[in-house]
This record gives sequence, C-alpha cells and structure tokens, in this order.
Amino acid sequence: MFLPLIIGNWKLHGNKKIIKSYFTDLCSKLKLMNLHVEIAIAPPMVYLELAMRYLNQNITLCAQNVDTNISGAFTGETSIRMLKDIGVKYVIIGHSERRLYHKESNHNIAKKFALIKEASLIPVLCIGENEQEYAIGQSEYICHQQLDSIINFVGIESFYDSIIAYEPIWAIGTGRHANPLQVQKIHQSIRYHIARYDENVAKQLRIQYGGSVNEENISQFLRQSDVSGALIGSACLKTDTFINIIKNTEAIKK
Ligand code: PGA
Repeated sequence: MFLPLIIGNWKLHGNKKIIKSYFTDLCSKLKLMNLHVEIAIAPPMVYLELAMRYLNQNITLCAQNVDTNISGAFTGETSIRMLKDIGVKYVIIGHSERRLYHKESNHNIAKKFALIKEASLIPVLCIGENEQEYAIGQSEYICHQQLDSIINFVGIESFYDSIIAYEPIWAIGTGRHANPLQVQKIHQSIRYHIARYDENVAKQLRIQYGGSVNEENISQFLRQSDVSGALIGSACLKTDTFINIIKNTEAIKK
C-alpha cells in the first residue's frame, strides 16, 4: 500500500531567499522524524532546481504544470523532459486555476496526462465542480465527466500509479472546506466510476482531497477510507503549519 501523500502547492509565491530558508528549515526538522508520510512540494517552476538542492529522502518535487509539447518553438513553456531531467516526480495538471485563467480544456489536460505517463512521471490530475454545480448536486457528475474525457484519450491503464485530486473549486482558497463525509462520498464515487472501466486500477488509485485544508481539519479528511492524502495551497507556505499538517497525517493510522 501507498503511504499517505501530502502535496504542497506554492502557486505563485516565494523568492530565492524564502525558498532557501523554507527548505532548509523543513528538511532539517523532518530529518529528525521517522515519517510514514510521503511529502511532495511544488514550488514555482523557476525555483524547482533551487529547491532540489535542499531536499532529503523524505521530500520529493512536484511541478505545478507542464506543456503539451516536448520541444520546439513554444515560447515560455516547460516540457516534461525538462522536468524529468531535473528530478521532478509529480506533475499537477488540470488545476482549476489553470482551467479558468489559462482556458485549459479537458483535451489539453489529457494530452499533458499522456506525456507525463510516457515520461514515467506521476500525474496529479485535479478535478472538481464549481459553486453552481455544487449547489444543484452535480459534483459527482462533473467529476465523472472530467475523468471520462481523460480516460477516453489516454486509456484506463494509464491510471495505474496516477493520482487524482478532488478539489471542489468553491473550497479552494476560500477557507470553506468541503464536508469530510461528503468528500468521502465523492471519492468513493470516483473509485466506483474508475472500477467500471477496470477494477484493479480503481483499487490502487490514490485520491487526494484539496480545498482549504489546514492543520486543524486535515485529520478529518484523512480518516475517510477513500482519502489518500491532501493537496494543500496556502497552508503549505509556512513551515510550522506544514509540519503540523504532516504530524497530524502521521498520527492517522489507516
Ligand atoms: P488551498 O488551495 O489549500 O489554498 O485552498 C488548494 C489548491 O489549490 O490545491
């Protein structure tokens, strides 16, 4: 079985000085703990390599995005080969902020998923409904639809050793996290949905929850049987808070 996975997404924050002191502090404190938690951190692209210099075996690197192309005339982009080259393990795709602000379509996200798998890295595929869809009870339907568009493109086998992050858009950065029991229900429905394609893939699937997770509420999510870990935004930016999240994760024995 997999260890619980905690992913910290820095989004558009930080500078060289902050990255250096954050990783130095985090790694030295974590080194003293005998952890049964996997930790991945996604600093901004430009700081991935800097962060890499401070990592120890407890922490792996995650990228916040990747391009749909491998190489060529694509100004401003980062390819999966480059991420692999510098030692990245996970790549977040389909985050709602990219879907919204960068108009990323399911087709686009599916292409990224395929490239990540081809490179033997691990996609962290974000899915989730918006406020309006939530209000009319369409959460499961939206998640299934988003999944189907990826499965139809890459095939269900590609979901082996891939990660899904259920992130209701209305819970991201709002301080209004989803109800843990409701999260369990959605995660279970995601697993059932995948099982319709392939039961073995469904069984091993890691499903993260994301949306206003913090040190106080993390335990409630991790107690749910279909929650494998969390994708954390603002609460990962301070080492003390992030370490408390990790300690609380460690305390939940599944
Ligand atoms: P948040 O962000 O923890 O700040 O709500 C989560 C995310 O965007 O993945």
